[in-house]
Amino acid sequence: MSEKKLALITGASNGIGLALAEEFAANGYDLVIVARDEKKLLATGKHLQKRFSVNVHAFSADLSEYDQITDLQARIDAVDLTPNALVINAGQGLGGAFINGTDLEKELRLIRLNVDAVIHLSKIFIPRLVEQGKGHVLITSSLSGSAPIPFEAVYGASKAFVNSFFYAIRNELMGSGLSMTLLMPGATETNFFKNAGQASTTVGSMKKDDPKEVAKRAWYALMTGHEFVYGSEYAEYEGEVMNRMMSESHKAQRHRIISEPDSATKK
Ligand SMILES: NC(=O)c1ccc[n+]([C@@H]2O[C@H](COP(=O)([O-])OP(=O)(O)OC[C@H]3O[C@@H](n4cnc5c(N)ncnc54)[C@H](OP(=O)(O)O)[C@@H]3O)[C@@H](O)[C@H]2O)c1
Repeated sequence: MSEKKLALITGASNGIGLALAEEFAANGYDLVIVARDEKKLLATGKHLQKRFSVNVHAFSADLSEYDQITDLQARIDAVDLTPNALVINAGQGLGGAFINGTDLEKELRLIRLNVDAVIHLSKIFIPRLVEQGKGHVLITSSLSGSAPIPFEAVYGASKAFVNSFFYAIRNELMGSGLSMTLLMPGATETNFFKNAGQASTTVGSMKKDDPKEVAKRAWYALMTGHEFVYGSEYAEYEGEVMNRMMSESHKAQRHRIISEPDSATKK
């Protein structure tokens, strides 16, 4: 059996999760990678294996489904894999007006992925790290967790939940030997905005952060024991200065300008 450390990373077939998987692999970790699209996930696994000479175990699962998370746990246990690092990263956005715009089923599904799955995966895998008395936990939240986000109302609220949950369990686990970091990316160049139906918004079409840089900052923060890290210097400014200084209604109005549907084309 491999003596290398093992990282379990969700949403590792694209964007920030893929960049995180590359960062862990570059630093010698074997990987358990999870996403829905099996074909793409297997191709990602081959790429990571070839480029970094690490072992990659790919498990396709829809993490917005409770039963698929318990099934994932069973499949990981069946091949006796014990992760030393847990990266809960898979998440989705959804753009549009909450009233008479967005679809309730899609919003509830988003909550099942961005909120329920974070709790469920933490409940399964963090106790195993606690048992080992060491290990790393990285949870991908968002700059949107510290401000109300009009036209992404449910998404922003889901990430505010993640922030509160993360700091609470991190505090509970003081002295456990675990290193736990919250990653708060700002707008990053991935499939996120296209999948959220936000291509016509200013935030969807503007220049964004490089996921590789986001992952490098996350890796450094996780390995040096920082409680949180932003995805870029700009995101840090937004989070630490603007979001801490302004009222909730002021932050909401500020964000509305870039997230309103068709804001990219409006004068
Ligand atoms: N990009 C940004 O601007 C930004 C900013 C702040 C925070 N974030 C956060 O960063 C995280 C990663 O997003 P990203 O920007 O890298 O998005 P992305 O490019 O769309 O990648 C999302 C990854 O998650 C997987 N995924 C999506 N839904 C899933 C599900 N139901 N079950 C399992 N896997 C699923 C996707 O693969 P499949 O589609 O094959 O499942 C893919 O691997 C999310 O938590 C997001 O909220 C992103």
